Amino acid sequence: MFSERISRLNSSLVRDILAATQRPGMISFAGGLPAPGELPVPDWSGVPAAVAQYGPSEGEPELREAIAGHARDLGMDCDASQVLVVSGSQQGIDLVAKLFIDPGTPMITEAPTYLAALQAFELFGAECHGVTLSSDGIDAGQLDTLAGSTGARLAYLIPTFQNPSGTCYSADARAAVACVADETGLTIFEDDPYRELVYEAVDRTPICSHIKTASWIYQSSFSKSFMPGIRVGYLIASPDLIPHLVRLKQAADLHTNRMGQWLAYRQLVDPDLETRLDGLRTAYAEKRAIMAETLSEHFAELAEWNTPAGGLFFWLRLKQAIDTRPLLPDMLERGVAFMPGEVFFPSTAPAIGYMRINFSHASPEQIHTGVALLAKEFRAASTRSQT
Ligand SMILES: Cc1ncc(COP(=O)(O)O)c(C=O)c1O
Repeated sequence: MFSERISRLNSSLVRDILAATQRPGMISFAGGLPAPGELPVPDWSGVPAAVAQYGPSEGEPELREAIAGHARDLGMDCDASQVLVVSGSQQGIDLVAKLFIDPGTPMITEAPTYLAALQAFELFGAECHGVTLSSDGIDAGQLDTLAGSTGARLAYLIPTFQNPSGTCYSADARAAVACVADETGLTIFEDDPYRELVYEAVDRTPICSHIKTASWIYQSSFSKSFMPGIRVGYLIASPDLIPHLVRLKQAADLHTNRMGQWLAYRQLVDPDLETRLDGLRTAYAEKRAIMAETLSEHFAELAEWNTPAGGLFFWLRLKQAIDTRPLLPDMLERGVAFMPGEVFFPSTAPAIGYMRINFSHASPEQIHTGVALLAKEFRAASTRSQT
């Protein structure tokens, strides 16, 4: 009755956990949600009546211009004709998957990588091959070898404050990945929703700005730095790809919500934008410090981690590699939600003994209570697995 691809549609653990986090009193370290107090109040004054009408599939012209200008400031050689406004960057992932993936198509992702991207790629039948992430990013030599041995033509990468690991690629790793793309013709799909959430000075130059000849797609979003509820993101692609992506967008939903685009444009050209972003960074950096201290207090014997220079997550590697998935139902019962790390690995590169912890959403008190409860559960599970 249904399409054959439906058999590949995994249940979304993220959505299931997010549903559980709606329960009153739940302490959530699970999603990448902005802190409730950090969300700006939408200001609809002056919204033009014209946004009630259908609009262009590519997006609002002035928003596309502003996005292209911003991307040029980051070093990308592009103009507004290469910009497609999408309904959240999740839609960008869906459109790129539709453009490149047939059942059995090999592609490359980081291992670990963003869970909902894996789901979208695998739904269309991709064989996702994982390239190892270290604290500097990925090794370009391994990327080259993997592309050669699997025949992959597409690599999906999150080089800046990666989800789930928080990793930020070094300047060298960024340039080296772009070189591999140019030398081999591997298309780079760079996903960059966290770049504005920066707490320490690190290189954030988009890999796509280094690419000279290969095809590329760069995408970002207003979800993490502005409002996820407006569902506005964008992608910028090399001229050979953009017409196909625009047609796929038309087939998907005609165009992105115009009211959301209007709000997004207003915030992009707001003279107070940097001040607001600085406030957000300060607030999240404080939460990051509280989480770092609380983790050191409760998890030092149980796990290892790096404090991320940006983004929204700590990524814990358990010293004793136990599968964290079976611990989730019990923790949800006790009122604490976390993301088991195992689900972020492509099936070709499975791993156990990881956990992702978001630090932006919970209050400082909840961080203390929730991390203590988690540590108790993890300590008991480690003891059980030793006996
Ligand atoms: C790496 C990555 N890409 C894309 C998304 C989707 O974001 P959006 O709200 O723009 O659809 C997320 C959300 O968590 C993400 O972490």
